Amino acid sequence: MKVKKLCGENFRNLLPFSLEFCEGTNVIYGNNAQGKTNLIEAIWLFTGAKSFRSAKDSEMVAFGAGNARLKLDFIAGGIERQAALTINNRRYAELDTKKLKSASGLIGNFCATVFSPTDLAVVKEGPALRRRFLDLAIGQLYPNYVTVLKDYTRALTQRNAVLKAMEGKLKDSELLDVFENELVVSGEKIADYRRKYCERLTVNASEIYNELSSLREELEAVYMPSCSEDFAESLYKARRTDVYSGITSVGPHRDDLDFKINGISARTFGSQGQQRSIAISLKLAEAKNLYDILGEEPVVIFDDVMSELDKSRQSFILNHIKGKQVFITCPDPDNITGLADGKVFTVEGGKIK
Ligand SMILES: Nc1ncnc2c1ncn2[C@@H]1O[C@H](COP(=O)(O)OP(=O)(O)OP(=O)(O)O)[C@@H](O)[C@H]1O
Ligand SMILES: [Mg+2]
Repeated sequence: MKVKKLCGENFRNLLPFSLEFCEGTNVIYGNNAQGKTNLIEAIWLFTGAKSFRSAKDSEMVAFGAGNARLKLDFIAGGIERQAALTINNRRYAELDTKKLKSASGLIGNFCATVFSPTDLAVVKEGPALRRRFLDLAIGQLYPNYVTVLKDYTRALTQRNAVLKAMEGKLKDSELLDVFENELVVSGEKIADYRRKYCERLTVNASEIYNELSSLREELEAVYMPSCSEDFAESLYKARRTDVYSGITSVGPHRDDLDFKINGISARTFGSQGQQRSIAISLKLAEAKNLYDILGEEPVVIFDDVMSELDKSRQSFILNHIKGKQVFITCPDPDNITGLADGKVFTVEGGKIK
């Protein structure tokens, strides 16, 4: 997948532009608040997804304008294609001059992965974000996983409802049996998917992390199931405490994922640069997964990744992501002195040169 050309008008603060990109690394450089993230957001929208900033569509139209217009020339599967977006209160898309029913019709035609500073939360914050990360990643690979997850959530809601109805006293145990059986069937499948995915992630992400850290550090994604023994038995044992609290205390909804560097938990002990490097490796591993499914390298977009990385890690990002087109924003000229080959765009007050 390669972006050849992007044109736009009335998109956020950007003045009308028409840009041709190179097939390797494209650096978008400029001071704060000049329009760098706006530019890569414009590219991202052609994946058919919503803005990665979770902005409302109308917020992307330049203040005072009616419609934003974007046009993208790209190459997919060796074929030149063209897509266009019109944005007002919603997004309208065209692909190869045909109008699509909705912008999500672009999904699978143009693909990209984006890293923005908020992705660091997966490494640094609480387990709910890591479960979400796992669920999204596995759901993309195996649609059946999404169904299993729904079954599990339904059974969990029902078991919790029965627990609450017991008002602190263990009774109606046949009803608990029913929902626990359902929980166990879907819960064991979920655990199985997650365990296998973590093994795959360890292989893919650690290879990337290895290169990023110049082979000095070893990354491991370790699945941390909430119950290590038999799930059915754990549920049964937890009945007494669960009736008391009215919620189910064990199961995949309490799982976590630990990222370890050289065997040590990165969430607790990792440095800023290490945590950032893990988040970057996870994104590149996701790109590899997309490649495995689609047979096409997605475009890789990095928003503000360079700070906190040392020169050798910066050089990896700039020069060593093989076979993929890379877009990267940065505000500091020092960050791009190591760029061996590629194109640099400067953004100033919405004007791109
Ligand atoms: N709909 C809009 N119309 C006009 N201007 C907008 C609109 N939305 C955002 N802006 C302006 O765009 C400016 C640049 O935003 P952007 O996020 O691209 O900056 P940036 O170059 O990435 O900066 P930083 O280095 O701080 O991340 C902001 O100052 C914002 O006020
Ligand atoms: Mg920005």
